[in-house]
Amino acid sequence: MKNFLFASACAILVIGAAQASDDFHAEKYHQSNCTGCHDSKVYTRSNRRVSSLPGLESQVRMCDANLGKKLFDDDILSLTQYLNDNYYHFKQ
Ligand code: HEC
Repeated sequence: MKNFLFASACAILVIGAAQASDDFHAEKYHQSNCTGCHDSKVYTRSNRRVSSLPGLESQVRMCDANLGKKLFDDDILSLTQYLNDNYYHFKQ
């Protein structure tokens, strides 16, 4: 029984890891999930609130929590990277 549980846990981890790295496209995800409450103008408005890369990551986490999608850490980081590359341009 213990072995069975262990094997199942491993299988779930492997499937989870594959989803996080292979199937996630930050740009597509953003287009279909992140533009419901605000569009990308909030990232470039003059009084935007995010002012650092760590701040951007925590804002992405907050919006993900609002959305209720519970993204993997890897996906949060891809989204943060995507927003930084396209809008914020903070130094890494
Ligand atoms: C449930 C509604 C909602 C959804 C869905 C949502 N956001 Fe937000 N987001 C907000 C609100 C509210 C703000 C704050 C806007 C303000 O301050 O005027 C915000 C602000 C932001 C900011 C900061 C903008 C700034 O001022 O610099 C970022 C970055 C951001 N969202 C990213 C995302 C990402 C990435 C997603 C998709 C995972 C997402 N949001 C989905 C509600 C949402």
